[in-house]
Amino acid sequence: MSSKTPWQDDRGNKDVSITNREGMGSHDFPRTTGDATPAPGGPFLIGEAMTGGYGSGADILHDCTVAVDKGQIAVIVGPNGAGKSTAMKAVFGMLNLRKGRVCIDGRDITRLSPQDRVAQGMAFVPQTNNIFTSLTVEENLEMGAFLRRDDISGTMEQVYELFPILRDKRRQAAGELSGGQRQQVAVGRALMTRPQVLMLDEPTAGVSPIVMDELFDRIIEVARTGISILMVEQNARQALAIADKGYVLVQGRNAYTDTGQALLANPEVRKSFLGG
Ligand SMILES: Nc1ncnc2c1ncn2[C@@H]1O[C@H](COP(=O)(O)OP(=O)(O)OP(=O)(O)O)[C@@H](O)[C@H]1O
Ligand SMILES: [Mg+2]
Repeated sequence: MSSKTPWQDDRGNKDVSITNREGMGSHDFPRTTGDATPAPGGPFLIGEAMTGGYGSGADILHDCTVAVDKGQIAVIVGPNGAGKSTAMKAVFGMLNLRKGRVCIDGRDITRLSPQDRVAQGMAFVPQTNNIFTSLTVEENLEMGAFLRRDDISGTMEQVYELFPILRDKRRQAAGELSGGQRQQVAVGRALMTRPQVLMLDEPTAGVSPIVMDELFDRIIEVARTGISILMVEQNARQALAIADKGYVLVQGRNAYTDTGQALLANPEVRKSFLGG
């Protein structure tokens, strides 16, 4: 086995061994249908001007836009209850939008179910309950690939190269793992679909600073393979430091949108959202 995994190549390389540009496995989907015309050079994934809430309840999102470019990392930050998770759920199709749309690679997927969005290249790791605790690590990874009809062993090998500890613990119940290892299982499970976009809601919740740094390093490696990362993070400073693009959400609205570095340098953002 090569000592250099596809995750460790230079940023922007064209290795597609995990990225699957044709969508999921052998699944066929029409590339030529859909209402949207892609803006030339527009973002790879965009939830655009999203307005809506849960069921028939009040709107939680108000004209909210989040997007990520190919192989880049976009980070959503903001106070508790700002609607960060709701924005992620809206992009993944778990919310009925009253206004706005979601497009991937120029295709309008606003009306697709979450499962159909997975077939279009999206993977989502929710904030809570993101693994099957009673299943083994390996069974969790297999569950992640349940929509695939092709050989998943190569992808599983790549996940184990990205997270070596999971290989050691592959026969253990995922519920027995530490918080950081469980998050690795959740990310690994999502990667088993060979997504083009990986959406992570607070992947470093409840882990130590060292484990957080390691997880961020792995996430950067994933982005370098060409997978786009859209991520919500409570650790705003550290996350913006690795973000190509950052979104500060407040009360379901875009408050600030800029590069990660520019947001980190913005005195108002620092004062209000980054603790000075
Ligand atoms: N399933 C739901 N049904 C109804 N309202 C909900 C639901 N989930 C969240 N909300 C409401 O939507 C608003 C935004 O919540 P959301 O979970 O998106 O915030 P968040 O920014 O992710 O917060 P946190 O930082 O605590 O994770 C809150 O007022 C919350 O009470
Ligand atoms: Mg949340």
